Amino acid sequence: MGSHAAVWVARERSEQERESARHDATGLPLSALPLTAQRATPGSPEASESARWDAAMNRAIEAASAVRHLTSPNPWVGCVVLSADGSTYTGATSPPGGPHAERHALADAGRTARGATLVTTLEPCDHQGRTGPCTAAIIEAGVRRVVIGVLDPDPSVSGAGVARLRAAGVEVQVGVRAAEVEHQLAAYLHHRRTGRPWVVVKLAASVDGRTAAPDGTSQWITSLPARTDAHRLRAWSDAVIVGAGTVRADDPSLTVRHWTPPGGRVWSDGTEPTAVVQPRRVVVGSAPPDARIHPCLQWDGPLGDLLDRLGAEGATQVLVEGGPAVAGKFVRAGLVDSFVVYLAPALFGGDDGAPMLSGPGAQSIEAVRGGSITAVERLGPDVRIDVAVSEPEPT
Ligand SMILES: NC(=O)c1ccc[n+]([C@@H]2O[C@H](COP(=O)([O-])OP(=O)(O)OC[C@H]3O[C@@H](n4cnc5c(N)ncnc54)[C@H](OP(=O)(O)O)[C@@H]3O)[C@@H](O)[C@H]2O)c1
Repeated sequence: MGSHAAVWVARERSEQERESARHDATGLPLSALPLTAQRATPGSPEASESARWDAAMNRAIEAASAVRHLTSPNPWVGCVVLSADGSTYTGATSPPGGPHAERHALADAGRTARGATLVTTLEPCDHQGRTGPCTAAIIEAGVRRVVIGVLDPDPSVSGAGVARLRAAGVEVQVGVRAAEVEHQLAAYLHHRRTGRPWVVVKLAASVDGRTAAPDGTSQWITSLPARTDAHRLRAWSDAVIVGAGTVRADDPSLTVRHWTPPGGRVWSDGTEPTAVVQPRRVVVGSAPPDARIHPCLQWDGPLGDLLDRLGAEGATQVLVEGGPAVAGKFVRAGLVDSFVVYLAPALFGGDDGAPMLSGPGAQSIEAVRGGSITAVERLGPDVRIDVAVSEPEPT
């Protein structure tokens, strides 16, 4: 992650992207979309070309967002084909086993892909998996230029896609809106670089930082809009992790119920990505036999080993939903990549309620860990604060 200011700007832009895609869905031409970057002299042909790539990358990022909950362990990728006649075709990755984003956009473009510019958030794959290499489809379609957000660190791609395209005479540009794409693909990129899932700790608390009353009751501190948002976080995660104490106290089901995917036409067969895949449920410790969380994985080993196992099984992101003992253990072990904190306008008014994290914390101010606020958002009466942890120290 970059500095506080840089990350904040990336989030601001992604709000614009959401807005621009909404406008796009109502039929405005691509040229009407807001442009956020200029790399050449304003008014020059290069500037207008670069602006077209930026606008197309905005749309590709938005298309990827529509399938974020469906593609893991594969990356959630968006792609836009800019044809020579000025028309545009958008695609996004199908669930595992289905076509990648590039193939959907190329299928929609048909013969107009010849001589076109293909804009994609992630480097096209160059290997035969459950689907054929996207590089082959791009070359076969006669695409003239490929514009890429970020390179794919997966060992089976890792620059090979770019090399294959260039060897076939396709012009390749890398790094367009790279910060925004890195932000969107953070969990995937982290998984491919480290083998472990990206760890998000979710905390819901009163403004005085309490997560449960002294009698153990804690449910519904936050409002329905905040809980709906938290269900989207679940849908974007491959696994949800809680401690045995939370299972005993709340008997949570930890399913995605309140959030409905927005859909949008990003697949060439016309279906929309509206399905929800329930995340796997994990209990640190053991759950009573009649708990609602079953079926679940019950884990009693080191938390780092749990992440190794989930990563090896394809989890790109996990969501730790507490309670304070288990969340505190993740934090002290240096295993957390980001926090999502929901604060409700409520006051417990004392120190006998449960804290956000329990166990021994920093013993001096020098030991306090740093981070950066990457987003602040109002959700009904509550506030969501996203915090990126700097320099995690895995154990
Ligand atoms: N507001 C919120 O965001 C929120 C979210 C979740 C929970 N909560 C509240 O938090 C309270 C429960 O929190 P809690 O801190 O008591 O329990 P917890 O963190 O949910 O679970 C702690 C328990 O997990 C088991 N465990 C096994 N291995 C462990 C390990 N390596 N590290 C830590 N724990 C391990 C232990 O169970 P055994 O005792 O069986 O060994 C331990 O007592 C409830 O009142 C719940 O309502 C609030």
